[in-house]
Amino acid sequence: MKKRYVDPFSPDLPINDPDRFSGRYREVDSIVDSLYQLSNKNPVHTIITGDRGIGKSSLLIQVKNLAEGNGKLSNKLKINLGVESYDYICAWHDCASDQTPADLASGILSKLQNKFFTLWNKLNFELDIAGFLKIFQKENKSASATQIVELFCNELTKACKKAQEQGKTGVILFVDELDRVDPTSGIATFFKLSAERLSREGITNVAFFTAGITGAIQNLEQEHGSIYRTFKDVPLPKLEEAEVHEILVNGFNKAGFLYERTVIRSIFKISAGYPEPVHLLGSQLLKVSENTHLTDEDFNTAKRQVVESLRRNKLASMLKNAGSGKYQKILEAMAQHTTQNVPLSFISENIGYEQNQYSANMGRLVKRNIISQVDRGIYCFVDPLLKEYIARFGIIDVDEDETI
Ligand SMILES: Nc1ncnc2c1ncn2[C@@H]1O[C@H](COP(=O)(O)OP(=O)(O)OP(=O)(O)O)[C@@H](O)[C@H]1O
Ligand SMILES: [Mg+2]
Repeated sequence: MKKRYVDPFSPDLPINDPDRFSGRYREVDSIVDSLYQLSNKNPVHTIITGDRGIGKSSLLIQVKNLAEGNGKLSNKLKINLGVESYDYICAWHDCASDQTPADLASGILSKLQNKFFTLWNKLNFELDIAGFLKIFQKENKSASATQIVELFCNELTKACKKAQEQGKTGVILFVDELDRVDPTSGIATFFKLSAERLSREGITNVAFFTAGITGAIQNLEQEHGSIYRTFKDVPLPKLEEAEVHEILVNGFNKAGFLYERTVIRSIFKISAGYPEPVHLLGSQLLKVSENTHLTDEDFNTAKRQVVESLRRNKLASMLKNAGSGKYQKILEAMAQHTTQNVPLSFISENIGYEQNQYSANMGRLVKRNIISQVDRGIYCFVDPLLKEYIARFGIIDVDEDETI
């Protein structure tokens, strides 16, 4: 009888426990530096960027843990915090697609207010969140960016002063999923103006720590040209083999399974450095194995089940959203390449077009989050399992002429 185990993998959830967070030394070090700067009255607003599913939220959560005084990760990675530990007040806000700067501002402030309440419920400290509603009612139209920024910064200033009085290191506002916000909503301007105003007013114990998908953040940049001037960018690259190895070996050990080395190599190859498929395949591998020894055969069964049932609908709709005609041909060609990183010359050879005849399509596939640019002239699938899906089910049969 197979023994029961707790699944150590979490394909659908960001990593909270520092012990389960693998690799990322350079990026953690860079953000710890932002924490250190802020604790010395030099706020460095920071943005984590990267492909969908690369690990942005997980990293942001780890930074929040460090900022709140949990030093497990810095100990594990042997990163110098610069101080014994941090004691920031942290508020966390997830963006939604229909959010305007006013929604974002009031959302952040209400999270901050809640945090104050949980820390010191006797403090009787209140922020004017209703003020945002009032602006809109009075004007009966959308409030100007300056009005919102003014109200936001005034309230934030109160919170920062209170935090200082209470002996806290400062205030950090975490904003995840920034990519969801409509680039025309003025969100980039909101951050820029708020950062400038806080600095002008001498409020130096607060910073924004945000995260968003690279393509969408580039869209924000095109719209306003200020994101990369307001924020220090911490781009998250794909995982290296040692990092994938660490995720898998920790998981297998924790669940009490033995494994063939080739299994780890196969998962690294198929996942192309994206952590989500590593978790997905790891989890499925434990499920399909009939004993506590993971073999190449188990890997093949797990892979088949993931592509043919677990992720089938998601991959099918991703393929559909890629577009038809040339888009499908490009993806079909990419799926035929022996490795995950595909040079344009290989695609050209396969689809019979010169590179300039389909460069706009490549750009749109990147924007649609289907593929990602690895280097000049080299691309890969954002979800590496799409390659397996195409190999198994083929592309969508489409009208040749459609190119949008
Ligand atoms: N450093 C890490 N070590 C181990 N697992 C990780 C790490 N980073 C991310 N993961 C895993 O990868 C998956 C995706 O992580 P996460 O949700 O943080 O990515 P994301 O970039 O925020 O995704 P999205 O673009 O969908 O918001 C999750 O299953 C998470 O558990
Ligand atoms: Mg995320």
